[in-house]
Amino acid sequence: MKKFSELQNRSKENQVNLNRFLNIAHRGASGHAPENTLVAYKMGREMHGDSIEIDLQMTKDGILIAMHDERVDRTTNGTGYIKDMTITEIKALDAGSWFNKAHPKKAKPSYEGLCVPTFEEVLEVFGEDSRYYIETKAPDVYPGMEKELVRILKKYNLPINQEYASNVIIQSFSEDSLQIVKKLNPIIPLIQLISYPIQATVSKAELAHIKSYAVGVGMNYKRIDQAYIRKVQEQELLIHPYTVNKREDMKRMIDWGVTGLFTNYPDVLNTLLKEKQAIMINDQL
Ligand code: G3P
Ligand code: CA
Repeated sequence: MKKFSELQNRSKENQVNLNRFLNIAHRGASGHAPENTLVAYKMGREMHGDSIEIDLQMTKDGILIAMHDERVDRTTNGTGYIKDMTITEIKALDAGSWFNKAHPKKAKPSYEGLCVPTFEEVLEVFGEDSRYYIETKAPDVYPGMEKELVRILKKYNLPINQEYASNVIIQSFSEDSLQIVKKLNPIIPLIQLISYPIQATVSKAELAHIKSYAVGVGMNYKRIDQAYIRKVQEQELLIHPYTVNKREDMKRMIDWGVTGLFTNYPDVLNTLLKEKQAIMINDQL
């Protein structure tokens, strides 16, 4: 298996920071605060997440917002599909109280009444120096969402392309959506998410196809084994399994060679990574 540093020699297109393992704060630090809110994203950064993961949906009047589900029911006090609601209607919702009820041990009065952020608001608050790992959710439901996404990234001077790094990664389960992004901006690194209902298998041909437009893959960590990870490594693709919340699962995935993890607990992953780094330094002394 090649080391991250050896992987640096890829073309200048689709560059993402390959030098470091990515601790991806899934929907923000969503194990600690209401998912996909500014508070969860802020906590994700404070807990040393490398990237803020954001799920994007689009309102009836064409505004990109941060929410995981197509309906507002689970994570707000409202009901209905986002595609049928205006941004004014979305902004009237309480996106925090559900969390207090669902997670009484983590509840905080300050979560009550939190707003659903627009994508632009996230960029305004966290700026061009933060790292964003953005998912186009339900792109078939929202024609034009990729164009709007790329327009906003440009407006806020993102992505900032450094030689071997990008502050933005775009992920999707939809290859069509990723291909649209690629046409609009061939530089942004793309991750193909893959849904496996049963234990995952993947062929060299499938991975070679993905490599023609993306820099890596993401899938449920429960569906993969070390052999799967090795196949992805052989194709020199990144592999970012989701959503790994228990320390022992994180450790196993890291030992098997993944290049990053989505987690609701970036604090737990950060502690583990620091411990592993300390062991490696000690071994070298
Ligand atoms: O984006 C990786 C992972 O977040 C995909 O699953 O359902 O949490 O968006 P989901
Ligand atoms: Ca996601």
